[in-house]
Amino acid sequence: MNLIITDNYNELSKKSAELIKEQIIHKPNTVLGLATGSSPIGTYKELIRMHKEEGLDFSKVITFNLDEYYGLSPENEQSYHYFMYNNFFKYVNIKPENIHIPDGKTKNVAKFCSKYENDIAEYGGIDIQLLGIGENGHIGFNEPDSALDVPTHLTNLTKNTIEVNARFFKSINEVPKKAVTMGLGTIMRSKQIILIANGDKKADIIGKMINNNVVTTNIPASFLFLHRNVAVIVDKEAAGNLKQQIA
Ligand code: F6R
Repeated sequence: MNLIITDNYNELSKKSAELIKEQIIHKPNTVLGLATGSSPIGTYKELIRMHKEEGLDFSKVITFNLDEYYGLSPENEQSYHYFMYNNFFKYVNIKPENIHIPDGKTKNVAKFCSKYENDIAEYGGIDIQLLGIGENGHIGFNEPDSALDVPTHLTNLTKNTIEVNARFFKSINEVPKKAVTMGLGTIMRSKQIILIANGDKKADIIGKMINNNVVTTNIPASFLFLHRNVAVIVDKEAAGNLKQQIA
């Protein structure tokens, strides 16, 4: 695990966008795994800048998003479909047919999830996956539990995740209680992973995840210790509880 501590969020976003850019230049038809939420907004802004100013080309890039709230349609302003179009896709030259986001309105969840897995496999797997981390250690919506699902699945969101994500909704009652998410196996099969965390609200979980040096289903992100090619990029605030830097 390669731990990178940056001075601020701007620098973090530039580093993470730089890794994605290198991958796209190396392989124009890169399969990109994407996250939503507050953490990647700066990365998307930087990738948009790279597209506009440096000609970074997304025309062959394929994307798969980590997750979507169950029950929300793409038109819903709180959906992750809406987030992705409005924070990233509409500003770059990505082809609509190359975009994949879990369907929050699917009638047949099991069929949808297995097709999502097959689609990823047919493109040769995810080349680079961008991840945020929940304050409880979730990645995607793989919440802390006694056992973690391997493939894409429908999951119950924890009380903590519902409370934390209520900031994006008019009231906490509007936050969906379930989501369709890539599983730990889907994420771990990505060839390269970038996890980004910023701000002091992430200091506790980043400290717990990294200081203890153990893998535990109580902190789903700790499974990243088992992956060969992970960059954890944190700003100074999120690094506030780290005891040591890891190699
Ligand atoms: C989002 C996702 C989540 C978020 C996490 C952190 O697609 O899968 O795991 O990355 O909840 O969210 P923010 O960045 O809003 O703190």
